[in-house]
Formats: sequence, C-alpha cells, structure tokens
Amino acid sequence: MNFKTLFAAALIGSAAFSPAIAADEPQVVRQELMKKNGGAVGAMAKMVKGEADFNADAVLAALTSISEVAGSFGEYFPEGSETGFETEAAPAIWSDRAGFDAALAKYKTDADAALAAAPADLDALKAVFGPLTKNCGACHETYRLKKS
Ligand code: HEC
Repeated sequence: MNFKTLFAAALIGSAAFSPAIAADEPQVVRQELMKKNGGAVGAMAKMVKGEADFNADAVLAALTSISEVAGSFGEYFPEGSETGFETEAAPAIWSDRAGFDAALAKYKTDADAALAAAPADLDALKAVFGPLTKNCGACHETYRLKKS
C-alpha cells in the first residue's frame, strides 16, 4: 500500500468510525426500533381514524415491521446501557427483567397474531389494532421513563 492509499484508507476509516460508534450503541438501536414502531402504528392509526384509506399492503408492511421490532427489541438492553444517549429506558427493565421480558413476549404474540390475521378490510384492522396497541402504553407505563 503506498502512502496515498494508506492516507485515503485512514480518512475513510475515521469518517466511518465515529458515527458507527454511536449508531451501534444499544441505546441508539433500541430507540430507532421504537421510532419504527411509532411510524408503523401511526400509519395504521390514520386508517382506523378515517384519515387515510384502508390499504391492505401498507397494513401488512406495518404489522411485519412491528413483529420484527418485537422480536429483536429485547436484545438491546445489556448491563451498562441503563443510561446515556438520552435513553428513556426505566430502571425497572433491569430490576424486573422477567416482567419486562413477559411484556415483550405478549407484545410479540399479539403482533404475530395481527400479522397472521392479515386484515383485509378496515373492520378486520380495527379488530387487531386495539389489542396490539394496548401493549405500547402498558409497557411504557412501567418500563419507559416518559409515559405514553
Ligand atoms: C415491552 C416494552 C415495550 C413495548 C411493548 C413498546 N415499547 Fe415503545 N418503548 C419502550 C422502551 C423501554 C422505550 C425507551 C427506549 C430508550 O429510550 O432506550 C420505548 C420508546 C418508544 C418511543 C420513543 C422512541 C425514541 O426514542 O424516539 C416510541 C415512539 C415508542 N416507544 C412507541 C411504541 C409503540 C407505538 C409501541 C406499540 C406498537 C411500543 N412502543 C411498544 C418499551 C416498549
């Protein structure tokens, strides 16, 4: 490797390095996952409220996204990630991990059931939307500092 390529590699390396560090932090990853959740629920909420036309494909995409988030969210709460990066994770996640895991498991079950139901019209969406979104507030109540 000549000096020029070495220099270029170092530049690329450092440019990729600092943002990657923050983006890989569990606090950041789990907040991104929850933002995806918020977007998916928001898209369906508009249909439920009559602010957007029912769209079966968009509903399936939203439910798939929620099911995926429910499946991986729990991996991003290692010891040492209790604070930092503006996390809103409540200490109860670490002091009552079994309760948190149970809330997560119920959320995943409800998300998968909604996805399996593959709502084909607005009434079918409404039937799964309520039970699914109860999980959001229920978990936030205990395990998120900012309640919603
Ligand atoms: C099993 C627990 C649990 C469930 C279920 C859950 N959340 Fe969360 N949510 C959290 C936790 C914990 C945080 C805080 C994460 C952090 O800041 O590190 C959070 C944060 C959020 C945020 C803020 C993200 C940010 O930082 O900008 C949104 C939005 C959100 N959740 C939406 C939802 C929606 C919508 C649902 C239901 C489809 C849902 N959540 C279900 C635990 C949960």
